[in-house]
Formats: sequence, C-alpha cells, structure tokens
Amino acid sequence: MKEKLEQIKADALSKIENSDTLEKLNEIRVNFLGKKGELTAVLKSMKDVAPEERPKVGQMVNETREEIEKVLEKHISQMEKALREAKMKTEVIDVTLPAKKNNVGHRHPNTIALEEVERIFIGMGYEVVEGPEVEKDYYNFEALNIPKDHPARDEQDTFYITEDIVLRTQTSPVQVREMEKGKLPIRMIAPGRVFRSDEVDATHSPSFHQIEGLVIDKNITFADLKGTLAEFARELFGEETKVKFRPHHFPFTEPSAEMDVTCFKCGGSGCRFCKGSGWIEILGCGMVHPNVLNMSGIDPEEYSGFAFGVGLERIALLKYEIDDMRLLYENDIRFLKQF
Ligand code: DAH
Repeated sequence: MKEKLEQIKADALSKIENSDTLEKLNEIRVNFLGKKGELTAVLKSMKDVAPEERPKVGQMVNETREEIEKVLEKHISQMEKALREAKMKTEVIDVTLPAKKNNVGHRHPNTIALEEVERIFIGMGYEVVEGPEVEKDYYNFEALNIPKDHPARDEQDTFYITEDIVLRTQTSPVQVREMEKGKLPIRMIAPGRVFRSDEVDATHSPSFHQIEGLVIDKNITFADLKGTLAEFARELFGEETKVKFRPHHFPFTEPSAEMDVTCFKCGGSGCRFCKGSGWIEILGCGMVHPNVLNMSGIDPEEYSGFAFGVGLERIALLKYEIDDMRLLYENDIRFLKQF
C-alpha cells in the first residue's frame, strides 16, 4: 500500500511539474484528488486492509493528499502570477499617446435663434406653449376666420391627412387652443414646426418653423402691439433698430400689418443685404379679429388682443447672414459649427 501511495505521489508531482497551463493543473487535481480520483480509489480499497492497519493507511493517504495539494496550489498561484504579469505587460497604457478627440455637438442656428426669441418674450412676462403639428382643419383654418372656400387657403398649400385633419400650415391654431381654455388674460408665444406643400429652394421648404404670439386682456390696443414688437426688434437686432408697420391682410386679425425693421447691416441706408431698400420684412401681426375671439368663447366687447407670427428660419438666416435656407437642413457639422 505504501509503495502504491509513493507511486501515486511521484506520478502526480511529475505531472504537476510538467504542466504549463491552469487547465492542466486543474485536470490533475480532479484525476488525483477528486471524487473519482486515484487517492479516493485507495480509500475505497480499505476494506481489503486488515482492520488494525486501517488508521495508519488512512493517515498515509491523508499525508499524500496534503503533499500533492500543497505542490499543486503552489504551482497554480505561481502560474496565475505569471499570467497576470504577462497581461500587465501587454496592457500597458502609454500616457504620451495623443488623446481621442471628443466631438461635442453644437446648437443649431434655429435653436439659438429660438432661445433668443424665447428669452426676450419670457422677459416680458410671456408663457411658452406648444400645440400639435397634426392639427384639425377647424383649428388651422375655420376658427381663425378662414372658412372652407376662403382664398387664403390657396396661399398656404396644405398637406391634408384627411378632409378634417391637416399638417398645420401655421402656428396660429395654438392661439385658438389657448383661448378656448378660457383662462384670461393671455400672454403667450408658441414656437413650432409647420408644413406647406412647397418646392425646396433657397427660401422655401415644405417644413419650417414659426413663432406665434398672442396677448389677450382688457384694453389692449394697437399701441401695445407696436410697443411690444418694437421692443422685440430692438432686443433681437440691436438698440438702434427702427420698425415700420405696413397695412396688410390676415383673415384672423383686423387691422393687420406687416412689420419691417431697419436693415441691421447698413442701418437703413440701403445695401445688398436689404436689396437697397434699407428695410427688412420680419413678421405679420394685427389685432385679433372679433370673429376669432367670439368663436373661442371670448367676448370682444370686454376683451381685445393682438397677435403676431414670425418665421424662425427667417430670423436665423438674417441674424447669421445665411443666404440659403437649405443649409439649415443639411446638418453639415462644418456649417453648423460656425454659429
Ligand atoms: N399665420 C401667419 C402666416 O403663417 C402669420 C401671422 C400673421 C400670425 C399675423 C399671426 C398674425 O398671429 O397676427 O403667414
């Protein structure tokens, strides 16, 4: 029995010595020390040993197991250490290598312009509200005093979803949705995307953005409209900016006007930018039509208000002197980075 154990031990130790991977060492553990291993087999054969010899043999088996285990553990930990060191060598960090550049995004000129407009109106006590882009014909047209056969519908080539649902052609429907809530007074702007079936060119796109404005309160007059929009123009384009109101027609306002600002490039003397006129058209506005107030449940005898609508792209193009609207939609980072 003793020789057998000696032989097992010698065999195990030489196998351990010749192992060059952790897998092989584990295999040796299973083969010699495991449940079906050689040492366990020796223990199982104890029944053939004389009873008085058994404790001695048992002790010898245990000693052999401990010795094999000791050598095995030593080899395993040596091998793990060697593996760790090899890994450290290949994974060395070269702190002198140039760093990877982190590309940070950039705010779009539309966003910058919108935030500027919002800042100005929030400063005057306005609320920013939003409305749906897919809109009922009623809100986009009817409730704004534009009935089914009204010629104004032809000016705004409309994408129809169904007969009664459209992609909104203007942000004006948000006025109606806000008035219908019945909470007065109202001081709001409503920025958002609008859609018209237009061909793409330097000044047109089937999808662009507007910012709508609406004030409803008692005793609101055209003087309030002028004062507010003149202040807006000065804040947006500079203190020396002057404004001019030209009579115009919108179905939802009466009277209506278009507002021009003095060219911020030449100061009004005329240049290529303002096509020699000294003025740049900037927005549409007017006093909210009594029909519109009535339809939204507001008594025009008690309340009055003004409204305006401005194209966001137009402001971005003017402010940043961009001469082609298409550049705003191409998302070319080299272009966008300039603003
Ligand atoms: N909705 C008009 C348009 O798309 C712009 C506009 C003009 C809005 C006058 C208004 C307004 O609220 O009073 O052309």
